[in-house]
Amino acid sequence: MPDAKDIRKKFGGTFEADKRTFKMGIDQRFTRAIAERFSGRTVLETCTGGGFTTISLAVAAGRVITVEIDPAHQQQARQNVSRAGLARRVSFILGDVLDERILRKMPPVDAAFLDPDWADTEPDHIYRFINSNTRPPADSLLQAIFTITPNVALILPPRLPIHELDGLPAHERQKLYMGESLELLCLYFGDLARCRGETELRV
Ligand SMILES: C[S@@+](CC[C@H](N)C(=O)[O-])C[C@H]1O[C@@H](n2cnc3c(N)ncnc32)[C@H](O)[C@@H]1O
Repeated sequence: MPDAKDIRKKFGGTFEADKRTFKMGIDQRFTRAIAERFSGRTVLETCTGGGFTTISLAVAAGRVITVEIDPAHQQQARQNVSRAGLARRVSFILGDVLDERILRKMPPVDAAFLDPDWADTEPDHIYRFINSNTRPPADSLLQAIFTITPNVALILPPRLPIHELDGLPAHERQKLYMGESLELLCLYFGDLARCRGETELRV
Protein backbone atom coordinates (compact mmCIF):
# COMPACT_ATOMS: atom_id res chain seq x y z
CA MET A 1 0.00 0.00 0.00
CA PRO A 2 1.30 3.47 -0.76
CA ASP A 3 1.74 5.60 2.35
CA ALA A 4 -0.12 8.82 3.05
CA LYS A 5 2.97 10.96 2.41
CA ASP A 6 3.44 9.53 -1.09
CA ILE A 7 -0.27 9.94 -1.86
CA ARG A 8 -0.19 13.55 -0.73
CA LYS A 9 2.92 14.25 -2.79
CA LYS A 10 1.55 12.68 -5.96
CA PHE A 11 -2.11 13.72 -5.74
CA GLY A 12 -2.11 16.71 -3.41
CA GLY A 13 -4.34 15.58 -0.52
CA THR A 14 -5.39 13.00 2.03
CA PHE A 15 -6.85 10.56 -0.46
CA GLU A 16 -7.37 6.81 -0.67
CA ALA A 17 -5.27 4.79 -3.09
CA ASP A 18 -4.17 1.18 -3.37
CA LYS A 19 -1.07 -0.05 -5.14
CA ARG A 20 -2.78 -0.10 -8.53
CA THR A 21 -4.72 3.18 -8.39
CA PHE A 22 -1.61 4.89 -7.01
CA LYS A 23 0.49 3.68 -9.92
CA MET A 24 -2.18 4.43 -12.56
CA GLY A 25 -3.01 7.89 -11.23
CA ILE A 26 -1.35 10.86 -12.94
CA ASP A 27 0.78 13.25 -10.87
CA GLN A 28 -1.08 16.41 -9.84
CA ARG A 29 1.52 18.65 -11.52
CA PHE A 30 0.54 17.21 -14.90
CA THR A 31 -3.20 16.94 -14.24
CA ARG A 32 -3.50 20.57 -13.12
CA ALA A 33 -1.79 21.80 -16.29
CA ILE A 34 -3.93 19.57 -18.52
CA ALA A 35 -7.14 20.47 -16.65
CA GLU A 36 -6.62 24.22 -17.29
CA ARG A 37 -7.63 23.60 -20.89
CA PHE A 38 -11.02 22.33 -19.69
CA SER A 39 -11.86 25.51 -17.80
CA GLY A 40 -15.63 26.10 -17.47
CA ARG A 41 -16.62 23.12 -19.64
CA THR A 42 -18.80 20.06 -19.17
CA VAL A 43 -16.32 17.21 -19.49
CA LEU A 44 -16.67 13.50 -20.15
CA GLU A 45 -13.83 11.67 -18.43
CA THR A 46 -12.86 8.08 -19.06
CA CYS A 47 -11.46 6.30 -17.20
CA THR A 48 -11.93 7.35 -13.56
CA GLY A 49 -9.40 5.13 -11.72
CA GLY A 50 -8.95 6.48 -8.17
CA GLY A 51 -10.41 9.82 -9.26
CA PHE A 52 -7.21 11.87 -9.26
CA THR A 53 -7.63 13.37 -12.72
CA THR A 54 -11.35 13.71 -11.95
CA ILE A 55 -10.42 16.03 -9.06
CA SER A 56 -8.17 18.28 -11.17
CA LEU A 57 -10.77 18.37 -13.95
CA ALA A 58 -13.58 19.18 -11.49
CA VAL A 59 -11.57 22.10 -10.05
CA ALA A 60 -11.17 23.61 -13.54
CA ALA A 61 -14.36 22.50 -15.28
CA GLY A 62 -17.97 23.29 -14.42
CA ARG A 63 -19.04 19.65 -14.48
CA VAL A 64 -17.43 16.24 -14.98
CA ILE A 65 -19.16 13.01 -16.00
CA THR A 66 -16.74 10.14 -15.40
CA VAL A 67 -16.99 6.51 -16.54
CA GLU A 68 -15.22 3.55 -14.89
CA ILE A 69 -15.59 -0.20 -15.41
CA ASP A 70 -14.21 -1.38 -12.05
CA PRO A 71 -16.60 -0.91 -9.08
CA ALA A 72 -13.75 -0.85 -6.53
CA HIS A 73 -11.95 1.92 -8.42
CA GLN A 74 -15.16 3.86 -8.73
CA GLN A 75 -15.85 3.53 -5.01
CA GLN A 76 -12.39 4.86 -4.21
CA ALA A 77 -12.87 7.74 -6.65
CA ARG A 78 -16.21 8.68 -5.07
CA GLN A 79 -14.52 8.89 -1.66
CA ASN A 80 -11.65 10.96 -3.02
CA VAL A 81 -13.87 13.37 -4.92
CA SER A 82 -15.98 13.85 -1.75
CA ARG A 83 -12.87 14.45 0.34
CA ALA A 84 -11.84 17.12 -2.15
CA GLY A 85 -15.25 18.78 -1.63
CA LEU A 86 -16.13 18.37 -5.32
CA ALA A 87 -18.94 15.78 -5.20
CA ARG A 88 -21.53 18.23 -6.52
CA ARG A 89 -19.55 18.78 -9.73
CA VAL A 90 -19.03 15.09 -10.60
CA SER A 91 -21.42 12.39 -11.90
CA PHE A 92 -20.16 8.79 -11.82
CA ILE A 93 -21.15 6.13 -14.33
CA LEU A 94 -20.22 2.47 -13.80
CA GLY A 95 -19.67 0.44 -16.98
CA ASP A 96 -17.68 -0.09 -20.16
CA VAL A 97 -17.25 3.23 -21.92
CA LEU A 98 -17.28 1.39 -25.26
CA ASP A 99 -20.77 0.06 -24.52
CA GLU A 100 -23.00 1.94 -26.97
CA ARG A 101 -25.81 2.11 -24.42
CA ILE A 102 -23.61 4.21 -22.14
CA LEU A 103 -22.49 6.60 -24.87
CA ARG A 104 -26.01 6.93 -26.27
CA LYS A 105 -27.33 8.08 -22.88
CA MET A 106 -24.52 10.57 -22.30
CA PRO A 107 -25.73 14.16 -21.76
CA PRO A 108 -24.15 16.77 -24.09
CA VAL A 109 -20.50 17.50 -23.24
CA ASP A 110 -18.06 20.16 -24.52
CA ALA A 111 -14.91 18.08 -24.28
CA ALA A 112 -13.50 14.72 -23.20
CA PHE A 113 -10.45 13.51 -21.27
CA LEU A 114 -9.36 9.92 -21.97
CA ASP A 115 -6.92 8.04 -19.76
CA PRO A 116 -6.98 4.35 -20.73
CA ASP A 117 -5.15 1.79 -18.62
CA TRP A 118 -1.66 0.87 -19.85
CA ALA A 119 -0.25 -0.36 -16.56
CA ASP A 120 1.72 -3.22 -18.17
CA THR A 121 5.24 -1.95 -17.64
CA GLU A 122 7.49 -4.94 -18.35
CA PRO A 123 10.69 -3.55 -19.90
CA ASP A 124 10.14 -5.39 -23.20
CA HIS A 125 6.43 -4.53 -23.48
CA ILE A 126 5.62 -2.89 -26.80
CA TYR A 127 2.75 -0.42 -26.73
CA ARG A 128 0.69 -0.08 -29.88
CA PHE A 129 -1.77 2.61 -30.89
CA ILE A 130 -3.26 0.79 -33.89
CA ASN A 131 -5.08 -2.28 -32.54
CA SER A 132 -4.14 -0.72 -29.25
CA ASN A 133 -3.23 -2.86 -26.25
CA THR A 134 -4.40 -0.33 -23.66
CA ARG A 135 -7.67 -0.99 -21.78
CA PRO A 136 -9.97 0.10 -23.32
CA PRO A 137 -8.07 0.16 -26.66
CA ALA A 138 -7.01 3.78 -27.21
CA ASP A 139 -7.76 3.74 -30.96
CA SER A 140 -11.34 2.41 -30.59
CA LEU A 141 -11.91 4.69 -27.60
CA LEU A 142 -10.85 7.79 -29.54
CA GLN A 143 -13.10 6.88 -32.46
CA ALA A 144 -16.08 6.32 -30.16
CA ILE A 145 -15.56 9.59 -28.30
CA PHE A 146 -15.19 11.60 -31.52
CA THR A 147 -18.87 10.75 -32.19
CA ILE A 148 -19.69 12.84 -29.08
CA THR A 149 -17.17 15.72 -29.23
CA PRO A 150 -14.20 16.79 -31.39
CA ASN A 151 -12.49 18.34 -28.34
CA VAL A 152 -10.53 15.49 -26.83
CA ALA A 153 -7.36 15.00 -24.75
CA LEU A 154 -5.93 11.47 -24.86
CA ILE A 155 -3.21 10.19 -22.54
CA LEU A 156 -0.86 7.63 -24.09
CA PRO A 157 2.25 5.78 -22.92
CA PRO A 158 5.54 7.54 -23.70
CA ARG A 159 7.11 4.78 -25.77
CA LEU A 160 4.81 4.28 -28.71
CA PRO A 161 5.54 3.86 -32.45
CA ILE A 162 4.77 7.50 -33.24
CA HIS A 163 4.12 6.80 -36.95
CA GLU A 164 0.96 4.94 -35.80
CA LEU A 165 -0.52 8.37 -34.98
CA ASP A 166 -0.10 9.64 -38.56
CA GLY A 167 -3.67 8.96 -39.69
CA LEU A 168 -5.27 10.90 -36.83
CA PRO A 169 -6.99 14.30 -37.28
CA ALA A 170 -4.70 17.35 -36.74
CA HIS A 171 -3.59 17.57 -33.12
CA GLU A 172 -1.04 18.86 -30.62
CA ARG A 173 1.20 16.10 -29.29
CA GLN A 174 2.52 17.07 -25.88
CA LYS A 175 5.43 15.23 -24.24
CA LEU A 176 5.14 15.33 -20.45
CA TYR A 177 8.48 15.21 -18.63
CA MET A 178 9.31 14.91 -14.97
CA GLY A 179 12.83 16.29 -14.91
CA GLU A 180 14.52 14.47 -17.79
CA SER A 181 12.17 11.48 -17.68
CA LEU A 182 9.49 11.30 -20.37
CA GLU A 183 6.44 10.06 -18.46
CA LEU A 184 3.45 10.44 -20.77
CA LEU A 185 2.16 11.70 -24.07
CA CYS A 186 -1.01 13.75 -24.28
CA LEU A 187 -2.73 14.32 -27.63
CA TYR A 188 -5.07 17.31 -27.82
CA PHE A 189 -7.71 17.51 -30.57
CA GLY A 190 -10.20 20.19 -31.59
CA ASP A 191 -10.21 23.39 -29.55
CA LEU A 192 -8.14 21.81 -26.74
CA ALA A 193 -5.06 22.01 -29.02
CA ARG A 194 -3.06 25.23 -28.70
CA CYS A 195 -1.06 24.48 -31.84
CA ARG A 196 -0.42 21.66 -34.29
CA GLY A 197 2.64 19.46 -33.84
CA GLU A 198 4.86 18.63 -30.90
CA THR A 199 5.07 20.54 -27.58
CA GLU A 200 6.59 19.79 -24.17
CA LEU A 201 5.47 20.19 -20.59
CA ARG A 202 8.18 19.87 -17.91
CA VAL A 203 7.58 19.71 -14.15
C1 LIG B 1 -5.04 4.80 -16.10
S1 LIG B 1 -6.43 4.43 -15.09
C2 LIG B 1 -7.18 6.00 -14.88
C3 LIG B 1 -6.44 6.83 -13.85
C4 LIG B 1 -7.10 8.14 -13.50
N1 LIG B 1 -7.17 9.01 -14.64
C5 LIG B 1 -6.38 8.81 -12.34
O1 LIG B 1 -5.61 9.78 -12.55
O2 LIG B 1 -6.58 8.35 -11.22
C6 LIG B 1 -7.47 3.60 -16.20
C7 LIG B 1 -8.82 3.11 -15.64
O3 LIG B 1 -9.59 2.63 -16.75
C8 LIG B 1 -10.48 1.66 -16.29
N2 LIG B 1 -11.02 0.96 -17.47
C9 LIG B 1 -10.44 -0.03 -18.20
N3 LIG B 1 -11.22 -0.39 -19.22
C10 LIG B 1 -12.35 0.40 -19.15
C11 LIG B 1 -13.53 0.50 -19.94
N4 LIG B 1 -13.71 -0.27 -21.01
N5 LIG B 1 -14.47 1.42 -19.59
C12 LIG B 1 -14.29 2.21 -18.50
N6 LIG B 1 -13.18 2.16 -17.71
C13 LIG B 1 -12.22 1.27 -18.03
C14 LIG B 1 -9.60 0.83 -15.35
O4 LIG B 1 -10.38 0.06 -14.47
C15 LIG B 1 -8.78 1.92 -14.67
O5 LIG B 1 -9.37 2.31 -13.45
